[in-house]
Amino acid sequence: FQRGLLSGRHVLINAGPTREAIDPVRYISNHSSGKMGFALAEAAAEAGARVTLIAGPVNLPTPTRVQRVDVVSAQDMLEACQAALPADLFIASAAVADYRPDTCAEQKLKKTPGSDDGMTLRLIRNPDILATLATGAQRPRCCVGFAAETQDVLGYARDKLQRKNLDLIIANDVSQSGIGFNSDDNAVTLIDQQLTTTTLPQASKQKLARDIISRLAALLDQQDSN
Ligand code: C5P
Repeated sequence: FQRGLLSGRHVLINAGPTREAIDPVRYISNHSSGKMGFALAEAAAEAGARVTLIAGPVNLPTPTRVQRVDVVSAQDMLEACQAALPADLFIASAAVADYRPDTCAEQKLKKTPGSDDGMTLRLIRNPDILATLATGAQRPRCCVGFAAETQDVLGYARDKLQRKNLDLIIANDVSQSGIGFNSDDNAVTLIDQQLTTTTLPQASKQKLARDIISRLAALLDQQDSN
């Protein structure tokens, strides 16, 4: 792993879950720990990049020489990512909530007195942060997404690569125990625009992050020479 690989580059990474408020005390979220994104931020900084890390609510220390911006909701995360542009490389590792409650109640919601009925929450779509940046006017030259799937991992990953206009997608199978969400280890498959796949077998998220960063540095260098 070479330390100067990303010198002179600005790398933008988002990580962790988002929280979508239902009322002042409740929210919708997911089990993302942010570990993979934080490991990528650390590896990118070690490789000499200027790194901006947009973090959802996670319990992790900020890696050395990384500028961290904390956010809560998907909408906040999108705005923080846009405010951090321009960037040479964008890695979208955050587990962004696809939907949010259409309104956040001003006061804590109460059970209906004398009724055992259920309740219905109306949800609306959140913006797709990765697709928004990857198709925007200030598109980072290299845009990378993650595809966490429980079935047909490679099929869905290829579809996302094309639909979201990405340079590379990192697929991981979250149905396997011991890797993925909340684990210290991961195992991933990288798929590029030529649909060439590279499998990185199970390893710590730190080791995988360094391998992924090396690959992305090479991709940026290759784009420079084209
Ligand atoms: O479509 P799916 O959610 O599986 O795509 C995953 C990829 O898209 C991840 O890189 C994730 O960070 C990104 N994403 C996003 N905004 C969303 C949903 C997903 O940036 N609202």
